Amino acid sequence: MPFSDYKTALVTGASTGIGAVVVERLAKQGLEVHALARDAGRLDDLARRTGCVPHAVDITDTSALTGELHGVDVDLLVNNAGVSRSGNILTADEFAIDEQIAVNVQAVLHLVRLVMPGMVARDLGHIVNISSIAAVYNFGGNTIYHATKSAVHTLSRQLRVDAYGRRIRVTEICPGRVETEIFGRLLGDMEEARRQYYDGYESLKPEDIADAIEYAVGSPRHVNIGHVEILPTFQVPGGLNFERRTD
Ligand SMILES: NC(=O)c1ccc[n+]([C@@H]2O[C@H](COP(=O)([O-])OP(=O)(O)OC[C@H]3O[C@@H](n4cnc5c(N)ncnc54)[C@H](OP(=O)(O)O)[C@@H]3O)[C@@H](O)[C@H]2O)c1
Repeated sequence: MPFSDYKTALVTGASTGIGAVVVERLAKQGLEVHALARDAGRLDDLARRTGCVPHAVDITDTSALTGELHGVDVDLLVNNAGVSRSGNILTADEFAIDEQIAVNVQAVLHLVRLVMPGMVARDLGHIVNISSIAAVYNFGGNTIYHATKSAVHTLSRQLRVDAYGRRIRVTEICPGRVETEIFGRLLGDMEEARRQYYDGYESLKPEDIADAIEYAVGSPRHVNIGHVEILPTFQVPGGLNFERRTD
Protein backbone atom coordinates (compact mmCIF):
# COMPACT_ATOMS: atom_id res chain seq x y z
CA MET A 1 0.00 0.00 0.00
CA PRO A 2 1.60 3.31 -0.86
CA PHE A 3 1.97 5.44 2.26
CA SER A 4 -0.17 8.06 0.55
CA ASP A 5 -3.22 5.77 1.00
CA TYR A 6 -2.99 6.45 4.72
CA LYS A 7 -3.51 9.85 6.30
CA THR A 8 -3.25 9.33 10.05
CA ALA A 9 -1.06 7.17 12.26
CA LEU A 10 -1.02 6.53 15.99
CA VAL A 11 2.20 5.33 17.62
CA THR A 12 2.22 4.30 21.27
CA GLY A 13 5.34 4.34 23.41
CA ALA A 14 6.49 7.25 21.29
CA SER A 15 8.57 9.18 23.82
CA THR A 16 11.75 7.16 23.27
CA GLY A 17 13.26 3.98 21.81
CA ILE A 18 11.57 2.25 18.90
CA GLY A 19 8.43 4.39 19.07
CA ALA A 20 10.21 7.75 18.71
CA VAL A 21 12.07 6.57 15.60
CA VAL A 22 8.87 5.15 14.10
CA VAL A 23 7.16 8.51 14.63
CA GLU A 24 10.00 10.25 12.76
CA ARG A 25 9.78 7.81 9.84
CA LEU A 26 6.01 8.02 9.48
CA ALA A 27 6.07 11.81 9.67
CA LYS A 28 8.69 11.83 6.88
CA GLN A 29 6.30 9.70 4.83
CA GLY A 30 3.78 12.53 5.09
CA LEU A 31 1.36 11.04 7.62
CA GLU A 32 -0.24 12.99 10.43
CA VAL A 33 1.29 11.12 13.35
CA HIS A 34 -0.27 11.00 16.80
CA ALA A 35 2.41 10.16 19.35
CA LEU A 36 1.36 8.70 22.70
CA ALA A 37 3.33 8.17 25.92
CA ARG A 38 3.38 9.56 29.46
CA ASP A 39 6.41 11.84 29.24
CA ALA A 40 5.00 15.17 28.02
CA GLY A 41 8.40 16.86 27.78
CA ARG A 42 9.85 14.23 25.49
CA LEU A 43 6.72 14.20 23.37
CA ASP A 44 6.93 17.99 22.99
CA ASP A 45 10.55 17.67 21.79
CA LEU A 46 9.46 15.01 19.33
CA ALA A 47 6.61 17.22 18.14
CA ARG A 48 9.04 20.10 17.52
CA ARG A 49 11.33 17.81 15.49
CA THR A 50 8.70 15.89 13.53
CA GLY A 51 5.44 17.83 13.61
CA CYS A 52 3.67 14.93 15.33
CA VAL A 53 0.63 15.49 17.56
CA PRO A 54 1.60 14.66 21.17
CA HIS A 55 -0.73 12.82 23.54
CA ALA A 56 0.69 12.65 27.06
CA VAL A 57 -1.39 9.90 28.61
CA ASP A 58 -0.94 6.74 30.63
CA ILE A 59 -1.99 4.01 28.25
CA THR A 60 -3.43 1.97 31.12
CA ASP A 61 -5.99 4.71 31.82
CA THR A 62 -8.68 3.51 29.43
CA SER A 63 -11.02 6.47 29.83
CA ALA A 64 -8.19 8.99 29.27
CA LEU A 65 -7.09 6.97 26.24
CA THR A 66 -10.63 6.97 24.87
CA GLY A 67 -10.85 10.75 25.35
CA GLU A 68 -7.51 11.39 23.61
CA LEU A 69 -8.55 9.44 20.54
CA HIS A 70 -12.00 10.94 20.21
CA GLY A 71 -12.47 12.23 16.67
CA VAL A 72 -9.17 10.80 15.35
CA ASP A 73 -9.59 8.38 12.42
CA VAL A 74 -6.51 6.22 12.72
CA ASP A 75 -5.42 4.50 9.49
CA LEU A 76 -2.18 3.07 10.86
CA LEU A 77 -1.91 1.94 14.48
CA VAL A 78 1.50 0.99 15.85
CA ASN A 79 1.06 -0.78 19.18
CA ASN A 80 4.57 -0.29 20.48
CA ALA A 81 4.35 0.77 24.15
CA GLY A 82 5.63 -2.02 26.33
CA VAL A 83 7.28 -2.74 29.66
CA SER A 84 9.43 -5.55 30.93
CA ARG A 85 9.82 -6.38 34.61
CA SER A 86 12.09 -8.99 36.08
CA GLY A 87 11.00 -12.24 37.59
CA ASN A 88 9.68 -15.60 36.58
CA ILE A 89 6.46 -16.85 38.16
CA LEU A 90 8.36 -17.93 41.29
CA THR A 91 9.88 -14.51 41.88
CA ALA A 92 7.71 -11.85 40.19
CA ASP A 93 5.83 -9.44 42.44
CA GLU A 94 2.24 -8.26 42.14
CA PHE A 95 3.21 -5.02 40.37
CA ALA A 96 5.22 -6.86 37.73
CA ILE A 97 2.18 -8.91 36.78
CA ASP A 98 -0.33 -6.06 36.92
CA GLU A 99 1.77 -3.51 35.02
CA GLN A 100 2.87 -5.86 32.24
CA ILE A 101 -0.69 -7.12 31.72
CA ALA A 102 -2.04 -3.56 31.72
CA VAL A 103 0.51 -2.04 29.32
CA ASN A 104 1.45 -4.97 27.10
CA VAL A 105 -1.98 -6.58 26.69
CA GLN A 106 -4.94 -4.68 28.12
CA ALA A 107 -4.03 -1.36 26.49
CA VAL A 108 -3.38 -3.05 23.16
CA LEU A 109 -6.80 -4.70 23.24
CA HIS A 110 -8.52 -1.43 24.14
CA LEU A 111 -6.70 0.50 21.42
CA VAL A 112 -7.63 -2.03 18.77
CA ARG A 113 -11.22 -1.98 20.05
CA LEU A 114 -11.26 1.81 19.76
CA VAL A 115 -9.57 2.08 16.37
CA MET A 116 -10.39 -0.98 14.29
CA PRO A 117 -14.15 -0.45 13.80
CA GLY A 118 -13.32 2.83 12.00
CA MET A 119 -10.84 0.99 9.80
CA VAL A 120 -13.50 -1.59 8.97
CA ALA A 121 -16.02 1.14 8.13
CA ARG A 122 -13.51 2.95 5.88
CA ASP A 123 -12.27 -0.37 4.45
CA LEU A 124 -8.70 0.79 5.06
CA GLY A 125 -6.20 0.28 7.80
CA HIS A 126 -3.01 -1.30 9.10
CA ILE A 127 -2.24 -2.47 12.61
CA VAL A 128 1.39 -3.09 13.55
CA ASN A 129 1.97 -4.88 16.83
CA ILE A 130 5.42 -4.98 18.38
CA SER A 131 5.70 -8.25 20.24
CA SER A 132 9.07 -9.87 20.98
CA ILE A 133 10.97 -13.09 20.44
CA ALA A 134 9.70 -13.76 23.98
CA ALA A 135 6.29 -14.27 22.37
CA VAL A 136 7.36 -17.32 20.44
CA TYR A 137 10.42 -18.76 22.17
CA ASN A 138 10.89 -19.89 25.75
CA PHE A 139 14.01 -18.81 27.56
CA GLY A 140 14.80 -18.06 31.18
CA GLY A 141 13.83 -14.82 32.79
CA ASN A 142 10.70 -12.76 32.54
CA THR A 143 7.82 -15.21 32.48
CA ILE A 144 5.08 -12.59 32.67
CA TYR A 145 6.65 -10.67 29.77
CA HIS A 146 6.64 -13.90 27.71
CA ALA A 147 2.98 -14.49 28.53
CA THR A 148 1.95 -10.94 27.60
CA LYS A 149 3.90 -10.90 24.36
CA SER A 150 2.51 -14.30 23.46
CA ALA A 151 -0.96 -12.78 23.81
CA VAL A 152 0.05 -10.03 21.36
CA HIS A 153 1.31 -12.70 18.96
CA THR A 154 -2.01 -14.57 19.06
CA LEU A 155 -4.01 -11.36 18.85
CA SER A 156 -2.12 -10.30 15.73
CA ARG A 157 -3.24 -13.43 13.90
CA GLN A 158 -6.76 -13.26 15.30
CA LEU A 159 -7.22 -9.69 14.09
CA ARG A 160 -6.71 -10.92 10.53
CA VAL A 161 -9.68 -13.23 11.10
CA ASP A 162 -11.79 -10.43 12.57
CA ALA A 163 -10.98 -8.18 9.60
CA TYR A 164 -11.60 -10.86 7.00
CA GLY A 165 -12.85 -9.38 3.73
CA ARG A 166 -11.82 -5.83 4.56
CA ARG A 167 -8.66 -4.07 3.31
CA ILE A 168 -7.05 -4.15 6.73
CA ARG A 169 -3.55 -5.47 7.22
CA VAL A 170 -1.97 -6.70 10.43
CA THR A 171 1.76 -7.01 10.98
CA GLU A 172 3.48 -8.46 14.02
CA ILE A 173 7.08 -7.38 14.46
CA CYS A 174 8.98 -9.75 16.69
CA PRO A 175 12.33 -8.24 17.70
CA GLY A 176 15.29 -9.68 19.52
CA ARG A 177 17.45 -7.32 21.54
CA VAL A 178 17.15 -3.65 20.57
CA GLU A 179 19.25 -0.88 22.09
CA THR A 180 16.66 1.22 23.94
CA GLU A 181 15.75 2.15 27.52
CA ILE A 182 13.77 -1.03 28.18
CA PHE A 183 16.44 -2.77 30.27
CA GLY A 184 17.36 0.44 32.08
CA ARG A 185 13.76 0.79 33.17
CA LEU A 186 13.77 -2.84 34.24
CA LEU A 187 16.90 -2.44 36.39
CA GLY A 188 16.15 1.14 37.40
CA ASP A 189 19.67 2.05 36.24
CA MET A 190 20.39 3.00 32.63
CA GLU A 191 24.19 2.76 32.98
CA GLU A 192 24.06 -0.68 34.56
CA ALA A 193 21.68 -1.82 31.81
CA ARG A 194 24.11 -0.54 29.19
CA ARG A 195 26.94 -2.52 30.80
CA GLN A 196 24.88 -5.72 31.17
CA TYR A 197 22.86 -5.75 27.98
CA TYR A 198 24.51 -3.57 25.35
CA ASP A 199 28.27 -3.01 25.87
CA GLY A 200 30.15 -5.37 23.57
CA TYR A 201 26.99 -6.64 21.85
CA GLU A 202 25.92 -5.81 18.31
CA SER A 203 22.29 -5.20 19.26
CA LEU A 204 19.60 -4.02 16.90
CA LYS A 205 18.89 -0.29 16.74
CA PRO A 206 15.39 1.21 16.76
CA GLU A 207 16.05 2.19 13.12
CA ASP A 208 16.23 -1.52 12.18
CA ILE A 209 12.71 -2.01 13.51
CA ALA A 210 11.49 1.15 11.79
CA ASP A 211 12.92 -0.20 8.50
CA ALA A 212 10.79 -3.34 8.86
CA ILE A 213 7.67 -1.34 9.65
CA GLU A 214 8.26 0.90 6.62
CA TYR A 215 8.64 -2.17 4.45
CA ALA A 216 5.44 -3.80 5.74
CA VAL A 217 3.36 -0.63 5.50
CA GLY A 218 4.81 0.37 2.13
CA SER A 219 4.16 -3.05 0.56
CA PRO A 220 1.55 -3.23 -2.21
CA ARG A 221 -2.05 -3.17 -0.98
CA HIS A 222 -2.65 -6.84 -1.83
CA VAL A 223 0.30 -7.89 0.39
CA ASN A 224 -0.04 -8.50 4.13
CA ILE A 225 3.32 -8.93 5.84
CA GLY A 226 2.11 -10.95 8.81
CA HIS A 227 5.01 -11.87 11.05
CA VAL A 228 8.49 -10.41 10.95
CA GLU A 229 11.18 -11.82 13.24
CA ILE A 230 14.27 -9.63 13.51
CA LEU A 231 17.28 -10.57 15.59
CA PRO A 232 20.84 -9.38 15.87
CA THR A 233 23.02 -11.74 13.82
CA PHE A 234 24.83 -12.86 16.97
CA GLN A 235 21.66 -13.53 19.00
CA VAL A 236 20.16 -16.98 18.55
CA PRO A 237 16.92 -18.10 20.23
CA GLY A 238 16.18 -21.65 21.24
CA GLY A 239 18.12 -24.30 23.10
CA LEU A 240 17.03 -27.30 25.07
CA ASN A 241 17.58 -28.06 28.74
CA PHE A 242 17.50 -31.58 30.16
CA GLU A 243 18.33 -31.86 33.85
CA ARG A 244 19.95 -35.20 34.74
CA ARG A 245 18.41 -36.62 37.97
CA THR A 246 18.27 -40.12 39.31
CA ASP A 247 16.28 -39.74 42.57
N1 LIG B 1 14.34 -3.25 23.38
C1 LIG B 1 14.23 -4.56 23.16
O1 LIG B 1 15.22 -5.32 23.28
C2 LIG B 1 12.90 -5.13 22.73
C3 LIG B 1 12.88 -6.45 22.26
C4 LIG B 1 11.68 -6.99 21.87
C5 LIG B 1 10.52 -6.25 21.95
N2 LIG B 1 10.56 -4.98 22.42
C6 LIG B 1 9.30 -4.23 22.50
O2 LIG B 1 9.43 -3.02 21.78
C7 LIG B 1 8.49 -2.08 22.29
C8 LIG B 1 9.17 -0.73 22.50
O3 LIG B 1 10.11 -0.87 23.54
P1 LIG B 1 11.51 -0.11 23.60
O4 LIG B 1 12.55 -1.15 23.58
O5 LIG B 1 11.55 0.99 22.61
O6 LIG B 1 11.43 0.41 25.11
P2 LIG B 1 11.62 1.81 25.82
O7 LIG B 1 12.77 2.55 25.24
O8 LIG B 1 11.64 1.49 27.28
O9 LIG B 1 10.26 2.59 25.45
C9 LIG B 1 9.04 2.18 25.99
C10 LIG B 1 7.97 3.19 25.60
O10 LIG B 1 6.71 2.77 26.16
C11 LIG B 1 6.13 3.88 26.84
N3 LIG B 1 5.30 3.44 27.96
C12 LIG B 1 5.63 2.58 28.96
N4 LIG B 1 4.63 2.49 29.85
C13 LIG B 1 3.63 3.31 29.40
C14 LIG B 1 2.35 3.66 29.89
N5 LIG B 1 1.87 3.15 31.04
N6 LIG B 1 1.60 4.54 29.19
C15 LIG B 1 2.08 5.08 28.04
N7 LIG B 1 3.29 4.77 27.52
C16 LIG B 1 4.06 3.90 28.20
C17 LIG B 1 7.32 4.72 27.31
O11 LIG B 1 6.97 6.06 27.45
P3 LIG B 1 6.72 6.88 28.83
O12 LIG B 1 7.65 6.34 29.86
O13 LIG B 1 6.98 8.30 28.42
O14 LIG B 1 5.28 6.64 29.14
C18 LIG B 1 8.26 4.57 26.13
O15 LIG B 1 7.93 5.53 25.14
C19 LIG B 1 7.92 -2.69 23.57
O16 LIG B 1 6.64 -3.25 23.30
C20 LIG B 1 8.90 -3.80 23.89
O17 LIG B 1 8.32 -4.85 24.63
C21 LIG B 1 11.73 -4.39 22.81
